[in-house]
Amino acid sequence: MDKFVIRGGNPLVGTVRVSGAKNSALPCMAAAILTEDEITLENLPHVRDINTERKLLSSMGAEIWVDDTKPDRVKICCRTLSDPVAKYEIVKTMRASSLVLGPLIARAGVARVAMPGGCAIGGRPIDLHIRGLEKMGAVITQEHGYLEARVERLLGAHLVFDKITVTGTEDLLMAAVLAEGETLMENCAREPEVADLAALLIAMGAKIEGAGTSTMRVQGVSSLHGARYRINPDRIEAGTFLIAGAITGGDLTVADCNPAHMSAVINKLQEAGARVDVFGTDAVRVRGGGQLRAADISTEEYPGFPTDMQAQYMALATQAEGVSLVEENIFENRFMHVQELARMGANIKVEGRTATVRGPAKLSAAAVMCSDLRASASLVLAALVADGESILDRVYHMDRGYERIEEKLAGVGAQIYRMGNVFPTREDEKTAIE
Ligand code: UD1
Repeated sequence: MDKFVIRGGNPLVGTVRVSGAKNSALPCMAAAILTEDEITLENLPHVRDINTERKLLSSMGAEIWVDDTKPDRVKICCRTLSDPVAKYEIVKTMRASSLVLGPLIARAGVARVAMPGGCAIGGRPIDLHIRGLEKMGAVITQEHGYLEARVERLLGAHLVFDKITVTGTEDLLMAAVLAEGETLMENCAREPEVADLAALLIAMGAKIEGAGTSTMRVQGVSSLHGARYRINPDRIEAGTFLIAGAITGGDLTVADCNPAHMSAVINKLQEAGARVDVFGTDAVRVRGGGQLRAADISTEEYPGFPTDMQAQYMALATQAEGVSLVEENIFENRFMHVQELARMGANIKVEGRTATVRGPAKLSAAAVMCSDLRASASLVLAALVADGESILDRVYHMDRGYERIEEKLAGVGAQIYRMGNVFPTREDEKTAIE
């Protein structure tokens, strides 16, 4: 199992580039199920979740090609869906596999998808996906750990989400585009990743109004066609780099990002005393150096402060002077990083959904364990400022969503290297898929 070795103390200086958004790429790949034609996706990040989704689609009969000259470009063709089943072996490693439920039933009239288990950051049910599909006429049964959905053709419906859900909105949007008649979706997630998916679907011939807002209106069509689409930059990877620049007192330019999607994080970094400048539409420069100040955060749906940046922000808060309150409102149990940060010397107390962080704490290097994707990022950030050499175990969590982060950070001056190398190379992946 790979580990990271990180020696803290170096300010990060230079330019780091952001990859495509994993959370846009996953639903966009699932959207390929909706057509017999070829979908070309560009700017796909080279991360483990994308490999998992490729395996998932291949196992259903999709043909997938990676462009040798441009490995972030992938063509997917679901001409035949010989086996419309999302198997447990794959779903258990990636909860977002439930994103294939909507497109499978819309295209094939039948879908079998393993129920995702609980995961490290809370129960994360998919009841809202199921309820929406039932309202559209699907008959859903549950047996042997699988959901089985059947329908002649989905019918447009009036869907009101009880709770805002990102993949739930995406799943039902993909179902609605091929349903008969109009679907009105209310209280939708407004995350940029939903808008990304909607843009691809529109390029495929779908009729969607209001993408990126809380109300979407979809006129179902009988079929969709092939399209080419470029995935937007990953705002969470970009935000993680901004914090890396600020926490190390560096001077870091985060390039190939979309600052318009990062306002909540940028504002909070400024409030905490970092100097942040936005350059045009695709770069942000962060300068640290002075004493950081405590600033509270409260996670919310977009455009609020993202839950996917909470753990990383907490690492920063350990270095800020004063008391920072970190409130987690989206997921229960999303404080797995706290104990590990405490082992490095952070002063954090958790009560219910609020963590109280007192700083600045002098962090000292330690052997720590990554527990989930963003918790891993928080430990990397803490290790970058800790005194001595930290060893981070289970970095496969990190590889789920960050493309070779150790190479990107080393490129701007971090002392970080990977021990072991079980992360598959592109060659390995090709063999595995073909
Ligand atoms: C997506 C993101 C994840 C991010 C999260 C919140 C992807 C692949 N993942 O996850 O990185 O942290 O949004 O921004 O895009 N809920 C229900 N019933 C449902 C669905 C959700 O109760 O059927 C609840 C969840 O338990 C949670 C809340 O709704 O408390 C939000 O979850 P949701 O937006 O669905 O998260 P994901 O889409 O799984």
